[in-house]
This record gives sequence, structure tokens and C-alpha cells, in this order.
Amino acid sequence: MNSYVSRGLWGFGAVSSVLIALVSYRYLVPHMPIPPNVGANLMARPWLFVHAGLASTALLVGPWQFLPRLRARVPRLHRWLGRIYIFSCIVGGTGGLLLAGGATAGPVARAGFGLLAVIWLLVNVQGLRLAMTGRYAEHRQWMIRSFALTFGAVLLRVYIPLSQMMGIEFMTAYRAISWLAWVPNLIVAELYVRGVFRPRRPTAAMA
Ligand code: HEM
Repeated sequence: MNSYVSRGLWGFGAVSSVLIALVSYRYLVPHMPIPPNVGANLMARPWLFVHAGLASTALLVGPWQFLPRLRARVPRLHRWLGRIYIFSCIVGGTGGLLLAGGATAGPVARAGFGLLAVIWLLVNVQGLRLAMTGRYAEHRQWMIRSFALTFGAVLLRVYIPLSQMMGIEFMTAYRAISWLAWVPNLIVAELYVRGVFRPRRPTAAMA
């Protein structure tokens, strides 16, 4: 991938992640209004607060982990942000799994969020295991998969207003988005990890 394109994508991803994370911390402010469909979640108390606080932290620290210069120049910062990211994903993801079980939008949304939570937990445990055993190239690949899932939180908050502008009934859109917010990202991450977007080297015949 062209370096301007990859820098542009990183910049868009980082800015949107930080904005959504900061806005989502509002759940930690006492007496903040909660959207009625989320407030009705059977597991909202206390899991919504645990989940919103920690999953937002994962979204806030995640993008910086992909900066090669930061990794090379301040490896201790990379390790500390990595510990915070993985802890936030694992505890925030456990909260997400419990919230998925209590979601009021029905079985399709429960399954979409539930499967996302399980895959998020497994991918992060795998990423952590590989970092702890020094298998850094594979660790990087699993963390790309992990952040593709984390970034679903940003896309969900883009797709919901878009679906409303398109006049799609809220619950129908919400159920579809519980899958659409993360399955395509995971596919794109998988293609990226497998080198599909890497420019091909010229063959001897072409050179
Ligand atoms: C990637 C795994 C994630 C899963 C499985 C997950 C799951 C869920 C579920 C099931 C709900 C309740 C929805 C309902 O009752 O209808 C929820 C709400 C929420 N989640 Fe997540 N989530 C994830 C990631 C994130 C991230 C990365 C953030 C960071 C911003 C986040 C922030 C929130 C917030 C703020 C709410 C409250 C509702 C809202 O304001 O939109 N979640 N999540």
C-alpha cells in the first residue's frame, strides 16, 4: 500500500478513535443520560460502566501502538500502552459479552455482539501470548486483527446515524449493524495481514 494512503488511513483511524473514546467516557460521569434501548439492557448495571470505561481506553491507546517510530524509539511506552490496551480489551470485552447477553434488541443483535466479544477476547489473549514468548511478527498480526475489531465501535457510531438518514427502521438497522460493524473490518484486516494490499515486486521478466 502507498505510504500516503497508509498514513492517511492511520490518521483517520486515530482521530476518529480518540474522538469516539472521549465521547464514550461520558458514561463515567454520574447522572449522564443513557439511550433508552441501552439503559434497558438487563446487564447495564454495573457492566455498561465497566465496559464503556475500559473499551474506550482500548480505543484511545490502540492507534499509537501501530506507529513503528514510537515502537522503536520508546519501546517501554509501547509495552506499557500494550498492557493497558490488552487489559482494557479483556475486562471491557468480558463486560461486552455480559451486555450482549442482556441486549434488548433481540437474538440477532445478541449473537452479533456476543460473537464479537468472544473473538475479541480470544484474539487479544493470542496477541498477549505471542508478545510474552517473543514472537513479535505474529504478535503484530494478531494486534492488527484486534484493533480491526476494536474499531468496530467507531463504525457502529457512523453506521447508526447513516442508517437513520437513509430512513431504515432503527431496530432493523441496529441488528444488522451488530454484525456489519465488525465482520467486514476483520476480513480487511485478514487480507492486509496476508499481504493482499502489499505492492507486488517486479518480476525478472518485467524488470
Ligand atoms: C469490540 C468488542 C465490543 C463488544 C462485544 C461490545 C458490546 C457492547 C454491547 C452488547 C453493548 C450494549 C448494547 C445494547 O444493549 O443494545 C455495548 C454498549 C456500549 N459500548 Fe461496546 N462493545 C465493544 C467495543 C466497544 C468499544 C471499543 C467501545 C469504545 C468506545 C465501546 C463503547 C460502548 C458504549 C459507550 C456503549 C453504550 C451505548 C452507546 O453509547 O453506544 N464498545 N457494547
